[in-house]
Amino acid sequence: MADTGDSYSPPRTKMAAAAGWNRKSVSGGSAGRWSAQEGAGRRGSGHEAGPGRAGPAAAGAVGGAGGGAHQPGSGPGRRPHPGRVFTGFSYPRLYCLFTECCGQKRSLNREALQRDLDDKLFGQHLAKKVILNAVSGFLSNPKPKKPLTLSLHGWTGTGKNLVSKIIAENIYEGGLSSDYVHLFVATLHFPHASNVTLYKDQLQQWIRGNVSACARSIFIFDEMDKMHAGLIDAIKPFLDYYDVVDEVSYQKAIFIFLSNAGAERITDVALDFWRRGRQREDIRLKDMEHALSVSVFNNKNSGFWHSSLIDRNLIDYFVPFLPLEYKHVKMCIRVEMRARGYAVDEDVVSRVAEEMTFFPKDERVYSDKGCKTVFTKLDYYYDD
Ligand SMILES: Nc1ncnc2c1ncn2[C@@H]1O[C@H](COP(=O)(O)OP(=O)(O)OP(=O)(O)O)[C@@H](O)[C@H]1O
Ligand SMILES: [Mg+2]
Repeated sequence: MADTGDSYSPPRTKMAAAAGWNRKSVSGGSAGRWSAQEGAGRRGSGHEAGPGRAGPAAAGAVGGAGGGAHQPGSGPGRRPHPGRVFTGFSYPRLYCLFTECCGQKRSLNREALQRDLDDKLFGQHLAKKVILNAVSGFLSNPKPKKPLTLSLHGWTGTGKNLVSKIIAENIYEGGLSSDYVHLFVATLHFPHASNVTLYKDQLQQWIRGNVSACARSIFIFDEMDKMHAGLIDAIKPFLDYYDVVDEVSYQKAIFIFLSNAGAERITDVALDFWRRGRQREDIRLKDMEHALSVSVFNNKNSGFWHSSLIDRNLIDYFVPFLPLEYKHVKMCIRVEMRARGYAVDEDVVSRVAEEMTFFPKDERVYSDKGCKTVFTKLDYYYDD
């Protein structure tokens, strides 16, 4: 069940995003320009941070968290609701029918999430089960003890970003574009190893600002395996079992980490099942879980490398994504054909699928790019 508390955030325009700057994303290049004064000064001014302004500045602007701008009693629950400002009355629920509100849009419907996963995600019986139970269980808990932390692992093109999108869409109408869903891409937002200290600081400010504006915020960290070791530890205090950290409670937030770390290990297990003639669907979570957490933890290329997140058991679920087989690739192609409004032509489906490369070399079981490039290959057949 989504948060039905009195936690509204003022509606925000997408002007900044339209101007080529996305308020919700950390701007890697200009992130250093954030200042506490800037954040505090803009708070409540009714302005979005302007183009080129760094993400954390906007966090200060909307969340009031930056540089001490967040005061006790000034949290999101106490901020005047727009419905109240304009009419003198409070019609929060009515207001939220017309615009997206923090944690307020709709309660999560377990069946709808299941339907989405069943319809859109192929060949991932483990991920489906874990995600469905973890997300619906977490959202129906009115007093979670810690934020939900999911770590999605697997081969390229197997559906990790797709699942984050499905989760986001099932919580917020705007999905990944929602003001309450924030995507960080390691190589884009944290590119320089020499700036790790700065990034740590910004990341903390940014998350704090957004969670104080909306407790039910979702943070997605993509390319975790390319995250500089240690950076992720900066958010450790937010993921732990604390009621509040510096006056902000993080317990309703959701953190999703995506990476390829552990993909080889997952593939080994899947291949072992396949070679022994066993069903893919017979692979259970416990066949994967321990090996996965150890291989991720010890993988020097992983942002989790010796991270205290794993050390302290702050990741709630390691979610394995299995490598995709020929039949799954064909399913992806059919989906794309329908999405483009074409009738499904099985001949084209097979030809596109056969253009993909499969591994191991002799057995050719798994697509080495998952479903990732099928769409561009399809263009070749429909380039009218
Ligand atoms: N299991 C799947 N079921 C349905 N579609 C899929 C699946 N896996 C991938 N796709 C499709 O393939 C494309 C790439 O998938 P996605 O971006 O989710 O991969 P990823 O696991 O995040 O890969 P990477 O590790 O390279 O980032 C998407 O358009 C997605 O819809
Ligand atoms: Mg991805």
